[in-house]
Amino acid sequence: MTKLLFIQASPRGEQSKSIQVAQAYLDVLKATNPTLEVDVLPLWGTELPPFDGDKAAAKVNVILGQKQNAVQKVAWEQVVEIASRFINADRYLFAVPMWNGTLPYRLKHYIDIIHQPGLLFGLKPETGYFGLLENKHATLVLTAGAYADSFPSPAFGVDHQSTYLKSWLNQAGVTAIDDLRFQPTILTADPQGALEQAKQAAVDLAKAHARI
Ligand SMILES: Cc1cc2nc3c(=O)[nH]c(=O)nc-3n(C[C@H](O)[C@H](O)[C@H](O)COP(=O)(O)O)c2cc1C
Repeated sequence: MTKLLFIQASPRGEQSKSIQVAQAYLDVLKATNPTLEVDVLPLWGTELPPFDGDKAAAKVNVILGQKQNAVQKVAWEQVVEIASRFINADRYLFAVPMWNGTLPYRLKHYIDIIHQPGLLFGLKPETGYFGLLENKHATLVLTAGAYADSFPSPAFGVDHQSTYLKSWLNQAGVTAIDDLRFQPTILTADPQGALEQAKQAAVDLAKAHARI
């Protein structure tokens, strides 16, 4: 059975364009994969503990191979529990709006919690980082109000959204990545028509992915 984790980084619920496009993708994927197990993670409706000094110390201890004290042990257990949900998925579906050129901070907070040594990555002094996740696939649904690949940059913004997300996933070992862009959502003459086109592209990609 394939497990898909649907990570929603927009706080806008049903109004969210990225979630709407991602849902169009998911509906088709589910219809073609009746055994697909879907786990929805609405980041703005999910409690995320602060990534505080104890968690930072626990992370560094793991990297350096040092013992955790009692407080750091508890902090690390919390991290492992949250990261396990991510690690246990086979496929990822991200709905991510561009915020100030990059990700909504809630998603960065989640990444800061789960991106951990021995869980998502390893680090060798000679060769650097290596990913620990294997055989995963990610689909990114990326929205932006004004930015588009084809618009002059930096006047309409610079894309630190897709570049950051992909480099983080790559570092964790997730290299099979597809993106669906609905950009721009606002600076377009026909926002509704553009939304329908983006949903159609999502349906087409899901049909292709049904065979993966
Ligand atoms: C806090 C905030 C920051 C934003 N920053 C940008 C930006 O830097 N560039 C851009 O093109 N759009 C920006 N937008 C617009 C959103 O990316 C756009 O409305 C997108 O469609 C929202 O996706 P959603 O409907 O899934 O929430 C921003 C919106 C918000 C709320």
